[in-house]
Amino acid sequence: MESSLFQDKAVLIVGGSAGLGAATARSFAAQGARVTIASRNAAKLDVCARQIAADVNAQVTTTVLDITDDAFVERYFANAPVYDHVVVTAGETPMGPARSLPLCEAYAAMNSKFWGAYRVARAVQIREGGSLTLVSGFLSVRPRKTSVLQGAINAALEALARGLALELSPVRVNTVSPGLIATSLWSNLDEVARTRMYADAEARLPVRRVGQAEDVTNAILYLASTGYATGSTVLLDGGAALA
Ligand SMILES: NC(=O)c1ccc[n+]([C@@H]2O[C@H](COP(=O)([O-])OP(=O)(O)OC[C@H]3O[C@@H](n4cnc5c(N)ncnc54)[C@H](OP(=O)(O)O)[C@@H]3O)[C@@H](O)[C@H]2O)c1
Repeated sequence: MESSLFQDKAVLIVGGSAGLGAATARSFAAQGARVTIASRNAAKLDVCARQIAADVNAQVTTTVLDITDDAFVERYFANAPVYDHVVVTAGETPMGPARSLPLCEAYAAMNSKFWGAYRVARAVQIREGGSLTLVSGFLSVRPRKTSVLQGAINAALEALARGLALELSPVRVNTVSPGLIATSLWSNLDEVARTRMYADAEARLPVRRVGQAEDVTNAILYLASTGYATGSTVLLDGGAALA
């Protein structure tokens, strides 16, 4: 039987305790990769690793890492192995119009999602032939007046990946840009608001459904396994940028 492209590859998912990161970790683990998931919360990481072990019968390593902490990130990667593929899904970006979102929250959002990915990119060691994949979001190309900053952060991440594709060559660097995906990101909304948001999206989007984490993980594994893909942004938004 042909072995998977990811068999025994060392894969790090930063943000792997939940949402898109957890789903990406499960997909790589199912393909035989040696996966490490990283985030701030040891208990969430442990639950996620046990779930992946139950789902796909694979052992996943966990490590606590806060990408907003310069010294923590540098210390972790100074002692970390060289990885084949690294994916950064971590980030927290409070939303709100630019005129009302407090500046301290705006700075914190940029510090988490943009500077967090930047810190990882400048410290991580990736083997030649390997890849780094960042996660942005479709607001980079289809801004909303209630989440101006998210669009700017996502556009900055996509530009960062294109520049890193040159600097880190021959390591490949790409971005996936999701639209609305049903993940734990939206668990801070109450049930009624979340259901309404999903129903609105189903009615508006050309694909007539909300995205699932697997829609995005398919693209992440495609970018990691496609040796000619670098500096790319893959948009997975159900047509939201058009509708
Ligand atoms: N879901 C969507 O609809 C959607 C749409 C467009 C773009 N995106 C983007 O996709 C990315 C992933 O979203 P998601 O839906 O997977 O979100 P999620 O379900 O909220 O998961 C976020 C993950 O990031 C980790 N994390 C947050 N801050 C961290 C930090 N400082 N250091 C390390 N880990 C940290 C969290 O783990 P701990 O709490 O354990 O630290 C968690 O594992 C985000 O950048 C988001 O903006 C999502």
